[in-house]
Amino acid sequence: MLDLPNSYKSPEEYTADLCDFIDTPLVSQITGGIHVNDALIRDAWERLPEEWTSWWSQFHDHRQVQQDLIDGIGDRFEQGSELRTEPALAERRPQSLASWLTRIRSLALPRNQRQGPELTLPEVLTARMNTKKIAEVSKAAAYIHAVCQRRGIAHVIDVGSGQGYLSSSLAYLFPDLKLLAIDGSQAQVDGAQSFAASLEIPGDKLEHMVHWIDGSPTLAAKMTDWANGQKCMLVGLHACGNLSEHMLRYFATVSCIDSLAAIGCCYNHIVPASPSCPEGFPISSVLRNKNVALSPTALMTACQAPSNWEKPNLEKADEKAMSVFSKRRLYRAILEKLFFDKDIRIHEGGRAAWGIRKGDLASFPKFANRAMGCLGVDSEGITIEELMMYEKRYKSCEGKIAILWTLSVLCCKVVESVIAMDRYWFLANQEGIEVDIFPIFDFKVSPRNLIIVAEKNV
Ligand SMILES: C[S@@+](CC[C@H](N)C(=O)[O-])C[C@H]1O[C@@H](n2cnc3c(N)ncnc32)[C@H](O)[C@@H]1O
Repeated sequence: MLDLPNSYKSPEEYTADLCDFIDTPLVSQITGGIHVNDALIRDAWERLPEEWTSWWSQFHDHRQVQQDLIDGIGDRFEQGSELRTEPALAERRPQSLASWLTRIRSLALPRNQRQGPELTLPEVLTARMNTKKIAEVSKAAAYIHAVCQRRGIAHVIDVGSGQGYLSSSLAYLFPDLKLLAIDGSQAQVDGAQSFAASLEIPGDKLEHMVHWIDGSPTLAAKMTDWANGQKCMLVGLHACGNLSEHMLRYFATVSCIDSLAAIGCCYNHIVPASPSCPEGFPISSVLRNKNVALSPTALMTACQAPSNWEKPNLEKADEKAMSVFSKRRLYRAILEKLFFDKDIRIHEGGRAAWGIRKGDLASFPKFANRAMGCLGVDSEGITIEELMMYEKRYKSCEGKIAILWTLSVLCCKVVESVIAMDRYWFLANQEGIEVDIFPIFDFKVSPRNLIIVAEKNV
């Protein structure tokens, strides 16, 4: 049974409210209508509700505002305590801001870990994993094994298997299971094979396959061949971007696949539906009929977990200096403004190759010169005096840029809920499929903790 936020009784009503909220002009603006990098070009600050900006202008340290916003969406249970903002401060929030934060809280799918089976992994398995991965594999492997036992499944296909932490653990721990681990990267499969070899897992018990998972019938045929007439469970631990969507489609269409367990991540790799990619996001007719679209920025915010950010020490005077984090954001926005004013156009793909290091944040001229060098921009007509002048002119915007960035990531859980509900509806609207979504991991350790599980009624 799907765990909805408290105030909702039906997934239909919940989905309608969720989609209405992300379609409001304010949420559209802060999750992509105006990217924070373009804030100085498009006066993003001025477009926020005046009541909010004038309240924030009363704070002399923008980090207090950021913390107050993050606390404002904090889930008491997740934090393990009451909201962390001083009650006196929270009470003075403008009513419209308080209601907006409450709305974000009330629209996000619950994220408190659901109780379920858990394993203690032996050291031979944990030696290669970090603490987070150990916790994830302990829960996921126990859950998968329980489903296999209940449904009489002996074949498990792990997609996006990476270094094979999950598939090797399942093969090592449960002699009754046969595993197929598929990943598109040869390097990842090499790593997984070496892990399996170190555990002395025989090749007929755990097979590895390098294959790009793209929804193609070729892979469906390969999985069916491997299953050899037996029913299978399809699993993915942090199946990034649209890999989860491909999993859902394989589950729905490949007859030997009986059960599904998919945990998503890296939502920024989701491909939106377009004429060249008609199968892109959203995948359910429910969200398609509502014309839901998420911008690249919105998808990126869904990868964030601001309540897990390190809390700044506001007491320390020397921390009042610009943090590396907000300085980077400020300099990036100033650079975009400079490019805009000078009509310098950068090919979007070029930006990914930025090689900014911590030392480049010593001053804006240093940052700009490094960035222009990396981007291949001809900086001859741009003097150091001009760069200094830009820094002087916009330095005071550091707090505004930091707050704008925080506002956009505050919507992370709501955006992730939209993606989860799209996946829910895609499966729930098919004949004979039972579907559920629940938080399988501890959110504080693994913010991407929603698992979508489904079973076919035969
Ligand atoms: C976030 S990692 C997770 C790895 C592993 N499941 C784990 O939890 O440790 C995602 C993996 O999926 C693989 N991958 C992503 N998209 C893929 C696709 N469309 N086809 C095949 N492999 C893919 C990547 O190469 C990577 O190894």
